[in-house]
Amino acid sequence: MYLRIYIHVLHMFGNPYYAEKISNALENIQLPESPNNLYEPIHYILSLSGKRIRPQLVFMGANLFGYDDLDSVLPASIAIEYFHNFSLMHDDIMDKAPLRRGKQTVHQKWNDSVAILSGDALLVKSYEELAKCPSYAVPELLKTFNRVALEVCEGQQHDMDFEERNDVSQEEYINMIRLKTSVLLGGALEMGAIIAGIDEVERKKLYDFGVNLGIAFQLQDDILDTFGDPDTFGKQVGGDIIVNKKTILYIMLKKSLSLEDQGVFNEILGLKVKKAIEKVSRMKKLYEKYKIFELANALKGEYSSKSFECLAAINVDAKQKEDLTILSNNLLNRSK
Ligand code: IPE
Ligand code: IPE
Ligand code: MG
Ligand code: MG
Ligand code: MG
Repeated sequence: MYLRIYIHVLHMFGNPYYAEKISNALENIQLPESPNNLYEPIHYILSLSGKRIRPQLVFMGANLFGYDDLDSVLPASIAIEYFHNFSLMHDDIMDKAPLRRGKQTVHQKWNDSVAILSGDALLVKSYEELAKCPSYAVPELLKTFNRVALEVCEGQQHDMDFEERNDVSQEEYINMIRLKTSVLLGGALEMGAIIAGIDEVERKKLYDFGVNLGIAFQLQDDILDTFGDPDTFGKQVGGDIIVNKKTILYIMLKKSLSLEDQGVFNEILGLKVKKAIEKVSRMKKLYEKYKIFELANALKGEYSSKSFECLAAINVDAKQKEDLTILSNNLLNRSK
């Protein structure tokens, strides 16, 4: 019994108290029954075991400044998680992904049209939650939410455009992941601080912490996509290689290749979907040969250090920063 609780806590991200509140709210989402193909996928994706870090960040952004009226933070927290799940439903179509959180993706279990429309409905549900936030905070919350939501779309478009290019620089890549992933983590924290009534100067420091953490987070996501353990990762290992995604691994490898291996690399890139298994294993070998895992990890370390510098600059007691410090460390060493 004790062992079970211990294992449960070990697998959970963040503060168990917030996790419980978030999971209750997600399980109790109110949706009509019909049409089933619109609403069932929403129940389905929300019930899968995501890490739910973004809604935790909203709580932590408020609590960092001593604000602890959890009920008034909850709607913003849920809005962010709905938005994230909406983006995943569409992302999985765009990335041709078969697996999400260890289960079939929505477009695979139903079809693309269902995943598009259920995703859209979930986006509307996130605005429904934003409208329930404390009225003094709603205008600023909407400003931040809309800004980062649009940036996520920009990042996703860059990501798609980059699949068709083979000259993407590391700088362009970092900007792309800042948009598609990091600003949402920063925005989640900032929304918590908005509800706590914090001024823009302190909010910006917290946002910058989230953006740097988010870049390190997406670097880890890219690393896991190739080097993750299929039993724990929950997504298709090698999915990025199959679609020639411009990940940090790809960009670093391309810069390191000998003339001879450039030919091998191009040959691997040209392998068709039918040869996916061969493509993944040959590309992985090249990554290993050039120690790309180590290089990417080092870059992740740099962004993680930057994020901790931003956190250190925030003018509150070190004790208040504990939750964020623990969560960040867990995220950067995660296996899923
Ligand atoms: C996946 O996010 C999408 C990325 C931005 C990498 P998470 O890794 O937070 O996914 P869940 O919600 O825990 O499944
Ligand atoms: C996803 O990036 C970013 C968004 C969903 C906006 P990825 O495509 O790398 O995320 P995963 O790996 O599918 O979770
Ligand atoms: Mg994607
Ligand atoms: Mg994806
Ligand atoms: Mg990924």
